[in-house]
Amino acid sequence: RDVLVLHGPNLNMLGMREPHLYGSDRLVDIDTRLQASANAAGLQLSTLQSNAEHVLIERIHQAYSDNTGFIIINPAAFTHTSVALRDALAAVKIPFIEVHLSNVHSREPFRHRSYFSDLAIGVICGLGAMGYELALQYAIRQLAGQTA
Ligand code: DQA
Repeated sequence: RDVLVLHGPNLNMLGMREPHLYGSDRLVDIDTRLQASANAAGLQLSTLQSNAEHVLIERIHQAYSDNTGFIIINPAAFTHTSVALRDALAAVKIPFIEVHLSNVHSREPFRHRSYFSDLAIGVICGLGAMGYELALQYAIRQLAGQTA
């Protein structure tokens, strides 16, 4: 079973976007490391970044029938706004971890609420790009324990 990594809006700007909050890695750096870790564990990993809600939703629908066993998602600003993206994850019932680079709880109050956290297996925030790596380690462990 494969792992899908989804990045929401403005994450294509990583590296230049508010590096004090989001770090200096570019998205391609993060995705490249995740690919290497997944491949080392014998898993297929696909990644998608989109600024468009419907593109993320349609990729989640596709995951229902493309052998995706685990999703790692940073919904970015959609975290705090998107019932539609939440409903897509609920519909496909694929286990997921919610990741944020920054500690959303130490920031503005509107970032404290997430439409995803109660559905997620777990939430990682404030650990920068390492949060994705840790989420992937969890996914690898989970998928290794499955036979089909
Ligand atoms: C973010 C936190 C969100 O509040 C923000 O809108 C983002 C990035 C993070 O990774 O820290 O775009 O999800």
